[in-house]
Amino acid sequence: MHRSFPYQVSARKWKNMALITFSNPEYKDKTVYAVAGSHTQTVLKIAREHQVPIAFDCQDGECGSCLVRVTALDGKGARMGGPLTDKERARLLELGRLTKAEVEDMLVDDFPREWRLACQMIVRDEDLLVEY
Ligand code: FES
Repeated sequence: MHRSFPYQVSARKWKNMALITFSNPEYKDKTVYAVAGSHTQTVLKIAREHQVPIAFDCQDGECGSCLVRVTALDGKGARMGGPLTDKERARLLELGRLTKAEVEDMLVDDFPREWRLACQMIVRDEDLLVEY
């Protein structure tokens, strides 16, 4: 009976972790675990913790230097992280990575589009590909 306990713990840990794969043509792909459920970690924070060289400056959604392209890998139409902050939405509009029509669509479908700011995007439970 005691032998099954560690297995249950590790199965639970596995279920509560999202896999984030960082990809850039200049570097080897790196896949890391992100603890899901807390919904507090940004893509940039996870990247920095794992020495993934995503460019950044302000870390506050102002400069746009941490622009990344995000794809959900589970094939279930996942939402690719938490919703856009007002700052993120404004910066992506300025950068031409989001259109006003897409912003209006997001109000209806609550489905973030592929371009995100790594310092603003909160990781949720889905496995992601992050191109930087
Ligand atoms: S680091 Fe400036 S917007 Fe993300």
